[in-house]
Amino acid sequence: MQRQPLFHDSLFRLLLLGFLAPGVCFQFVPVTDQVNVQCLGSLARLRLSSAYFQNKYISFAAIDQFGRPWPIDEVQSAKCGYTISQDVWGNIELRASLLGCYTLMDDQHFTLNIQITAATDPGMQHTVVLNVPVSCSYGPWQPREIVCEANYMEVSVRRNVPPIPDGFLQDQPAGPPEDWAAAFPEAVAGASSIWQIVFHMDARRKAMRVEEAHAAGYGVNTTDTRIVLRAPYNATEAQKVEVNGIPFSSVRSSTYYKQRWMLLMVDTAVTCPIDGVYYSKETITWTIPKSIPPLLVGAGIVKELQVDMGVNLDKLSTQDIRSWGYSLASDKDAIVLKMPIGAPGGNYKTYVIDGKPMITYKIAPYVEHLWEDDKRGITKHTILKDISTPLQLVPVIVTDYTNASLQLFNATVGTFLPDVVLVSITVDASGPLPLPEAEKKGYKIYEAKYSNGSRGYVVQVPFDAPGVGREYVPDNIRSYTTNPILGFSVIPQGDTFDVPVPLTALVQDAVLPQAEGFCDDEALYLVVKRGNVDQDWLPFAGDDLLTREKAQALGYTLLDNGTHLALRVPRQAAHVRYEEIDSFGILVTFRLQLKDYRLAEMIDFAVSCSFSPKDLIDCLANGTVRISALKLVGTPDLVPSGLVLRDRRCRPLSVTEEGATFIFNVTSCGTTRKFEDATMSYENEVLYFLTGQAAPIYQLKCACRYFMGDTLLLQYSPTEAPSPSILPGLGVLALALKLARDKSYSSFYQDMEHPVTRYLREPLHFQVELLHSEDPQLELFLEDCWATASSDRKSLPQWNIVMDSCENTEDSHQTTFHGVTEDSVPFPTHLKRFEVKMFTFMVDNQALQGQIYFHCSAVICDSSWLAMDTFCARRCIPRRQRVGRSIDSTRSRQVHVSSGPVVIRRDHM
Ligand SMILES: *[C@@H]1O[C@H](CO)[C@@H](O)[C@H](O)[C@H]1NC(C)=O
Ligand SMILES: *[C@@H]1O[C@H](CO)[C@@H](O)[C@H](O)[C@H]1NC(C)=O
Ligand SMILES: *[C@@H]1O[C@H](CO)[C@@H](O)[C@H](O)[C@H]1NC(C)=O
Ligand SMILES: *[C@@H]1O[C@H](CO)[C@@H](O)[C@H](O)[C@H]1NC(C)=O
Ligand SMILES: *[C@@H]1O[C@H](CO)[C@@H](O)[C@H](O)[C@H]1NC(C)=O
Ligand SMILES: *[C@@H]1O[C@H](CO)[C@@H](O)[C@H](O)[C@H]1NC(C)=O
Ligand SMILES: *[C@@H]1O[C@H](CO)[C@@H](O)[C@H](O)[C@H]1NC(C)=O
Ligand SMILES: *[C@@H]1O[C@H](CO)[C@@H](O)[C@H](O)[C@H]1NC(C)=O
Repeated sequence: MQRQPLFHDSLFRLLLLGFLAPGVCFQFVPVTDQVNVQCLGSLARLRLSSAYFQNKYISFAAIDQFGRPWPIDEVQSAKCGYTISQDVWGNIELRASLLGCYTLMDDQHFTLNIQITAATDPGMQHTVVLNVPVSCSYGPWQPREIVCEANYMEVSVRRNVPPIPDGFLQDQPAGPPEDWAAAFPEAVAGASSIWQIVFHMDARRKAMRVEEAHAAGYGVNTTDTRIVLRAPYNATEAQKVEVNGIPFSSVRSSTYYKQRWMLLMVDTAVTCPIDGVYYSKETITWTIPKSIPPLLVGAGIVKELQVDMGVNLDKLSTQDIRSWGYSLASDKDAIVLKMPIGAPGGNYKTYVIDGKPMITYKIAPYVEHLWEDDKRGITKHTILKDISTPLQLVPVIVTDYTNASLQLFNATVGTFLPDVVLVSITVDASGPLPLPEAEKKGYKIYEAKYSNGSRGYVVQVPFDAPGVGREYVPDNIRSYTTNPILGFSVIPQGDTFDVPVPLTALVQDAVLPQAEGFCDDEALYLVVKRGNVDQDWLPFAGDDLLTREKAQALGYTLLDNGTHLALRVPRQAAHVRYEEIDSFGILVTFRLQLKDYRLAEMIDFAVSCSFSPKDLIDCLANGTVRISALKLVGTPDLVPSGLVLRDRRCRPLSVTEEGATFIFNVTSCGTTRKFEDATMSYENEVLYFLTGQAAPIYQLKCACRYFMGDTLLLQYSPTEAPSPSILPGLGVLALALKLARDKSYSSFYQDMEHPVTRYLREPLHFQVELLHSEDPQLELFLEDCWATASSDRKSLPQWNIVMDSCENTEDSHQTTFHGVTEDSVPFPTHLKRFEVKMFTFMVDNQALQGQIYFHCSAVICDSSWLAMDTFCARRCIPRRQRVGRSIDSTRSRQVHVSSGPVVIRRDHM
């Protein structure tokens, strides 16, 4: 079936809305160009211009001879011979059968009056009424004329028909004789000229009086010369029959009427095809079988007379048919009409289904077939057909011609049928904008018309228009995207659909934010200079979004002036990582990440600084060590309170989330001593063990390093796994060579008392002392002691006092070692005492005048390791210098110490 539900529904929605109600204001306007009237054979056509009637609520009524309007609704249309349709442009068309209900006629001249009411509101309050008089002439009428309209079937038969043929009687077992018998009494009594219609349905018959037939939806009437029967396709008595596989609707009836003194019966069968249209990709084929049995009942020889076709009720010449690409073929079985899809005469039409535009090709052809049979004479069978090809989805093609160098999106969108109009553009969340508004925002739309009537649109959007997103994609590229949504409306239905136009351009114009970092003793600083891609990027430290409040809560200082983001992060603040320790100190890092709105990390900046480790380890001269052990990146499982020293009983004194502080003395907690060239180190380790594991997962080596001879040495070297680190420490290890006032060694000359004056051969009591240390394990041994005439210990001449750890026995001024009693000093091993007789240098047998300086080189040994220290295992050390233990130690190194000057008193000489 080619009836178009969409189309009819909307029309009748309009129709049913409006009947003139009393008291409603309306005005009559003269008929002008708004309505075009044409007489087309036995039909009259009124065309209402869409320009005038668009967006109006319209109703039709037929005016009868007394001036009364009869609204034309759906049922009335089929009954009285009206067909209302709308073409693709929205023009409304009313076709009226000249034999319709309210026509004044003499079978040649026909006059009807159609009233059109147009309102701007659905309540039909403000209406315009047009009265359209229609006058047509038609003739001569064929003995039988059948019209197959879209909504009804109509047959009119000349009244002076020949008698019912014999075949008809034989063909119809329940046929006319019985009909006659049933009808006769009514005929005699009936007032009207038609008194009965008998419908034949297979083996059944159904007789109706005229009024009953009218009530059943039939149009039945007589004219001067003809009997007319009109039936809707869905009439109860209509039957579906198939002819060569094509379905027809058929109402077979006999109409009885009286004409003057005669009672007549006319075969008023009417049969119309309800399909027969096939579509291929390019062609519509409409097949109408010729031998339609219900129309040929009783017919003898049938003679083919003529087949014509037309479109929109305009008859086409053979020439037209060919030039328009149609074909009309007629053989003894069927008429076959072929129409290429898209051919002139038809139109494409857009519908919106599920928000998508779909198109159909519509064409309204008709076929007029004349034949003659020897019983009924000529039959003219006119079949009108509204054909729509199945709806087809037409993809809307968006072609992006954007040339990034012009900073302008440029795309075409299309194509659209002429019944599609662009009404709005949605550029952002603010919703659809009318075109001029969108244009103000930079969205320019140009229409492109094609020769076939279709259109396309060119959409141009500058890259800086609102609604254009700029997003950074790696490698300095910015992706510009916009997705304006074009809102279309289909005329005349007003259905809308949207076409998104997603456009993307990649432009290598990204400027990434750049950062500078620096540190001072307290904090790390990061200044990020914004680029052109990071306006909406969010700063994160770890998982913390650095809002102003958050930054403040973390103790940071955050300044953002739009172009720069400056951040000060105190060294001890959260998110500062103690990364690794290198030769410059401990490396701390602060990492700032910039994430986009999806929280994808776009870039990250880190500022790393080395802080001198002196505040991580503190080596006091008295042997107390303070170590701050820090949790390093990479030991997330570490619980600072579980950190221990080598002696696992030594636990931290205080603990923070980031680390632990130990304070211990070098004689405890497994601390070891180590002597190297000119240094002595105390070493320990901060360790962390996982339960059940022998190897620590964290090992921080700490060393307090003392340079033997006042000079401090800072040295650090990382070692390998597991947590490579040594904390270097600084320490003071000082020796003093003091001159005692007497042999009791209870009082010493101070620095400013030098030079001290002594008589020749008077004893000098010297003490070499390790200052500050409280490590009882250290033992000081003298190696060499000598005297010089100048303060430079290397100057010549020199006089040896102690040689290779032994007293110089070369002369009478023999050196004597004195033991140190355990209770006189806290650390007896830290001192050595010796006595030497005052002497003078003889040069060229001349005694040198002036000052004498004393110098010693000493070694410090680890008394617990003496046995293994070859350096300490000198010849005289065990015998004279030792305080009571055997000595053999490699763990000692030489230190020098000098005394202030001593002068000889000459007066005693
Ligand atoms: C039949 O036609 C006549 C003349 O046109 C008209 O007056 C009459 O009302 C019609 N009858 C019906 C039932 O339509
Ligand atoms: C035929 O269709 C019309 C409109 O849909 C309806 O009003 C009428 O009742 C139908 N007639 C029959 C016999 O079904
Ligand atoms: C883009 O526009 C520039 C300047 O008008 C032109 O030189 C270039 O050839 C264009 N590129 C393309 C791919 O059309
Ligand atoms: C937009 O694209 C069309 C189609 O390629 C082209 O003809 C037109 O010159 C372009 N306009 C601009 C401004 O790039
Ligand atoms: C009309 O012409 C345009 C451009 O040539 C074409 O893309 C479109 O398909 C045509 N439309 C129809 C309905 O043929
Ligand atoms: C923002 O701060 C930076 C550095 O702090 C400075 O160089 C820049 O000029 C400032 N910009 C404005 C707009 O104040
Ligand atoms: C070592 O010296 C420091 C500071 O001078 C002091 O606090 C600490 O108590 C001393 N340690 C011992 C064991 O005397
Ligand atoms: C060092 O510590 C140990 C054990 O804690 C203690 O016995 C010793 O007296 C301490 N030494 C000094 C010099 O404080």
